[in-house]
Amino acid sequence: MADRSAPLDPADDPSPDELIAARPFLSRHAMDGLVLEGVPLARIAHAIGTPTWVYGAATMRARCRSLLDALRGTGLDVHAHYAVKANDHLAVLSLFAAEGLGADVVSEGELRRARAAGVPAEQIVFSGVGKSVPALRLAIAEDIEQINAESAEELEMISALASAMGHTARVALRVNPDVDAGTHEKISTGRAQDKFGIPYADAAALYARAATLPGIRPVGLAAHIGSQVETLAPYRAAFGRLAELVHTLRATGHAVETVDCGGGLGIPYRNQPVPRPEGLAGALRGAFHNLDVRVLVEPGRWLVGPAGLLLASVILVKQTEGTRFVVLDAGMNDLVRPAMYDAWHGIIPISAVDLVGPLEPADVVGPICESSDTFARQRRLPPLAPNACVAILDAGAYGAVMSSPYNARPRAAEVMVDGDRWTVIRARQALDALWADERVPTATDTDPGTAADPGTAAPRTPAPA
Ligand code: LLP
Repeated sequence: MADRSAPLDPADDPSPDELIAARPFLSRHAMDGLVLEGVPLARIAHAIGTPTWVYGAATMRARCRSLLDALRGTGLDVHAHYAVKANDHLAVLSLFAAEGLGADVVSEGELRRARAAGVPAEQIVFSGVGKSVPALRLAIAEDIEQINAESAEELEMISALASAMGHTARVALRVNPDVDAGTHEKISTGRAQDKFGIPYADAAALYARAATLPGIRPVGLAAHIGSQVETLAPYRAAFGRLAELVHTLRATGHAVETVDCGGGLGIPYRNQPVPRPEGLAGALRGAFHNLDVRVLVEPGRWLVGPAGLLLASVILVKQTEGTRFVVLDAGMNDLVRPAMYDAWHGIIPISAVDLVGPLEPADVVGPICESSDTFARQRRLPPLAPNACVAILDAGAYGAVMSSPYNARPRAAEVMVDGDRWTVIRARQALDALWADERVPTATDTDPGTAADPGTAAPRTPAPA
C-alpha cells in the first residue's frame, strides 16, 4: 500500500514508462517529452519556471463524470460533495461546481471559498471536529444543506446558536463506527481511539436528544473512516454499521433522511491495485439499497490527486559515497506528503532526452534543512543534469493546500491545463509578500494594546467583549 508505514522495496517501484502507461492523461512524445493532456510540461517550465503545480482540468472533469456514473449505477439517491480540503483553488472548485458537485467544507474559509466558486449553500455540508462559532453562525445563516455534528457538546452549541438566530439548522450526527480503514496511522479517522465522531454506542441516545433540542432538526448520520483507503472491506463494515443505526433509529420513531458516507477512496500512487468507484458504489448499494435514504459521499483525493503534478528543477546532483542525491528546487514546504506520511509519489523527468536515459538509483531530496525533506529513496532515475526538470506525480490532492513558507520559501505558482491550453491560476508569490504583514516593535510601543495593528482579518474566536 502506498501510504502504509512499512518500508517499500525500491526494486518493486514502477519505472517512469510504467507510471506514464498507467495514467491516460500523461503521454511521452519523442520531441516534446512529457505531455499532460495536450500541453508539453517543458513549455510551462520554460515559460514560468519552477516549482509549479500543474492541474489537468479535462482530467478532473473525466474523473468526476466516471465517479458520478458509478454512483448513478447504484440506483440510489446519491450525491457527491467534493471535499474542498483536497485542493481548494477557486478554479478547481468552480470546475466541480459546474459538474454539479456539492462541497464538503471544514472551516469558515472553505465555506466562503465554496460559495465564492458558485457552490449553492443547499449543496454544502460542514464537517470537522472543532467548528468555530463564527463558522457555525455563517453556516446557519446561509442555511447550508447540513452540519455534521461530531459530539454532544457541539450539538448543544449548534442548538444554542441557531435558536438565538431564530433558525432551524439541519444536523447529521457523525458517528465513529470503530472501523480500521487500514490506511496510514495519521489519516485514519474511524477507530474508537480517533478524535472524530460520536461513539457508536452513544449515537442513538444522542439522536433522540437532538430531536428535543431547539434550533436544530436531526436529518441523518455521517461517517468518514479515513483517507487513501485501499480496500473495500472497511467501507462495507462502516456502511453496515450506519445502516444498522438507521434501522434502530427508525424503529424508535425517528426520521432518518440522509446518510453521509464520507470520502477516502485511495488512488494508485505506486500503480498498486486500488478499488474503482464501481467498487465503492457496490458497497453503498449493498448497505443502503432497501433503506430509502439520501446517500452522500465526500470524495477529495480521488477526484484531484491524479490530475495534478508538481514540476521541479534539479539544482544539483550531489554524489556521496554510495548515494546519488538529486537536489530539487521543490521541498517539503511545497509537498509535505512524503515527509509527513511516508507517501510514495512517482517522479519522472519531463524532457524527451531524459525520459529515455538509463535508470540508476537516486535519493530525490529538497533543499530544506531537515532530513525529512526527502521525496524518494533509491528511486530509479536517468542521469539528471542541473536545470533538468522532473514531475512529481499525483500531487493534485493535499499538495498546494498543505504547503507552508518554511525556510522563507514563497508559495509556488499554479497552472491549469485544459486540453491543449494552459493558464496561470496563481502567480508565484513574491518574496516580500512573506513579511508584508510583519511588524518589528519599536521603543515607543509601550502599550501593546494600542500599538499593535489589529489588522482587518476576523479572528477565529472573537475576543470576549
Ligand atoms: N470527508 C471528511 C470528513 C474528511 O475528513 C476528508 C479528508 C474527506 C471527506 C476527503 O477524503 P479523501 O477522499 O480526500 O480521502 N492530508 C492527507 C489526507 C487528509 C484527509 C483528511 N480528511 C494526505 O495527504 O494524505
